[in-house]
Amino acid sequence: MDRQTWQAVDDYFTGQLSGPDPVLDAAHEANALAGLPPIDVSPAQGKLLHLLARTVGARRILEIGTLGGYSTIWLARALPTDGELVTCEISPAHAEVARANLARAGLDGRVDVRVGPALDTLPTLDGPFDLAFIDADKRSNAEYFRHALRLSRPGTMIIVDNVVRGGRVADTDSDDPDTRGTRAVTEAIAREPRVDATAIQTVGSKGYDGFLLARVR
Ligand SMILES: C[S@@+](CC[C@H](N)C(=O)[O-])C[C@H]1O[C@@H](n2cnc3c(N)ncnc32)[C@H](O)[C@@H]1O
Repeated sequence: MDRQTWQAVDDYFTGQLSGPDPVLDAAHEANALAGLPPIDVSPAQGKLLHLLARTVGARRILEIGTLGGYSTIWLARALPTDGELVTCEISPAHAEVARANLARAGLDGRVDVRVGPALDTLPTLDGPFDLAFIDADKRSNAEYFRHALRLSRPGTMIIVDNVVRGGRVADTDSDDPDTRGTRAVTEAIAREPRVDATAIQTVGSKGYDGFLLARVR
């Protein structure tokens, strides 16, 4: 099995289960045109985020790491019209592209893009949020999780993306700051009595990675 097969399988399921989506295609095109790196979630992962947000009946969503707003669109579409999504992005250029993509998607009224280091923005926010999606610089994951927990309520779902890192997460000696950040958040969650959690390995159009899912007790 190789990445070409994972891509073909992702294309098959996305084609069958999600279908064409001109708004999301336009967001991808705008991101590429603006030179953003293609590190957004895959369509299948975006749909999973959307379904999870609907499953928990999310009315307020927190996202850390906006990029061009691809995952933001999937998540914000799960909100009721009076719902709110706050998304944190350090890069003004990324935030500008995201705002345009969200406006084109008709979601700008529901989404608040906060520009700046997430660790500066998060202390200014009030909870509770019903779902938090952590997908920014991985070295800060443990601190992001701490804030997501502070801003949660019992039942809040917290998702941490890219926790497998091509298998590098299992390398106990890794000096890669992103791998260390991922291990740090995993171990903090393991010690945290207020959540139940699991982590799932995935393959697909984005390669071999995975996500961690926690539910606040
Ligand atoms: C993996 S991308 C997010 C992808 C997006 N969630 C999606 O799937 O469409 C990570 C984003 O986090 C942003 N970022 C990196 N460090 C950050 C920080 N300290 N605070 C806020 N955002 C940060 C990067 O600029 C980048 O846009």
